[in-house]
Amino acid sequence: MAEPKKLFIKTYGCQMNVYDSERMAEAMGGAGYVETASADDADMILLNTCHIREKAAEKVYSELGRFKELKAARPDLKIGVAGCVAQAEGEEIMRRQPLVDLVVGPQSYHRLPELEARARGGEKALDTEFPEEDKFTRLKRRPQAKRGPTAFLTVQEGCDKFCAFCVVPYTRGAEVSRPVAQVLGEARDLVERGVREITLLGQNVNAYHGAAEGGDWSLARLIRELAGIDGLERIRFTTSHPNDMDDDLIAAHGDCAKLMPYLHLPVQSGSDRVLKAMNRKHTAEKYLRLIERIRAARPDILMSGDFIVGFPGETEADFADTMALVEAVRYGQCYSFKYSARPGTPAAERALVDADVASERLARLQALLTRQQREIQDEMVGCEVGVLFERKGRMPGQMAGKSDHLHAVYVEGANVAVGDLARVRITASGPNSLAGELV
Ligand code: 5AD
Ligand code: SF4
Repeated sequence: MAEPKKLFIKTYGCQMNVYDSERMAEAMGGAGYVETASADDADMILLNTCHIREKAAEKVYSELGRFKELKAARPDLKIGVAGCVAQAEGEEIMRRQPLVDLVVGPQSYHRLPELEARARGGEKALDTEFPEEDKFTRLKRRPQAKRGPTAFLTVQEGCDKFCAFCVVPYTRGAEVSRPVAQVLGEARDLVERGVREITLLGQNVNAYHGAAEGGDWSLARLIRELAGIDGLERIRFTTSHPNDMDDDLIAAHGDCAKLMPYLHLPVQSGSDRVLKAMNRKHTAEKYLRLIERIRAARPDILMSGDFIVGFPGETEADFADTMALVEAVRYGQCYSFKYSARPGTPAAERALVDADVASERLARLQALLTRQQREIQDEMVGCEVGVLFERKGRMPGQMAGKSDHLHAVYVEGANVAVGDLARVRITASGPNSLAGELV
């Protein structure tokens, strides 16, 4: 048998890209590739890219530049760009960086082996279509391969919301949900391969409406069905839109034991004026009322969110509304960004907030968010939490895992293995993690 070729994938951006990279690696397994952890000995390098902010997109070009010497030393090396930069910039990538042999958009990953063959034949291979056929049914799986205890599973892709700042509706396309049977089949397969926690992914995951016999299923119904799978212990989902949090999904947080008490629910801003300019179609008040209802169902839920500061037109008063909303919610964990104008989005045409003003607001917001995160973490000391152990820690005898609330937890000298789910009493809180001991 021929020596397998080596594939190095570097993944940027969101969890969906992590999932896609796994599926691409599996698909390339069928084309004679095994994954390697280093670019240096690879026969093919694939960058799975992110276009959400300008910084993320520019990283790709600087990374590509670094492969120049590798490619000069080994002319057989093929270099590919996948992900949202591939979708958004297409042929432009090959013009800007002639090292690139292959460009593939997120909806065409099932065609990757064929594109690789074309690139091997000396062609510049490009596919950024939104094809009719379903990539998920065509992406080959590697049967029986053992896996770690946690996995991502994409159930929904794309977005129809068109927030004024966001490229997702253009790079990932219109909202599409995978059929229920396909999702359940993939989940059962993951569990057979050792997975105990599944995070359901979608750009707008709570808008899920997967086709099933007798009509579409909501995300809540899907979660309840997944909860019936023996061996699957934990279910999470991300990312959700406030306008798609239906009553059943809220209720599931209260009555479905396997659904973990953590919810990523981005609001972006606390100012109604800015929310309107962002085309978010909800107010700050509506968001706060929603969180009240979620907390009524699951009082200990840990809230997470995303914020953009310095959106075009944002005044100091608007920003004060954002700070007030954060105070009112009390987040356990958040992501916050300075607005970045993305070509082709409606907001890209509008006048920017002064960059220094935006940076200063971001610093104030992040100080508040860090304080909240730390306070909530500190409150865990003395509590007993469930921890799923994912890997060995850096110290000898140390094991690392995630709590139900998604806090990183370290335990020392305990008799636990990767994949064990155990009760842990939290003994200390550090800047980004908790320490504890087995109960
Ligand atoms: N500028 C800054 N942040 C953005 N996000 C999306 N688009 C932009 C942009 N143009 C942030 C939002 C979103 C998260 C994934 O990235 O907060 O929820
Ligand atoms: Fe982008 Fe999310 Fe808005 Fe969709 S809902 S346009 S993915 S920020």
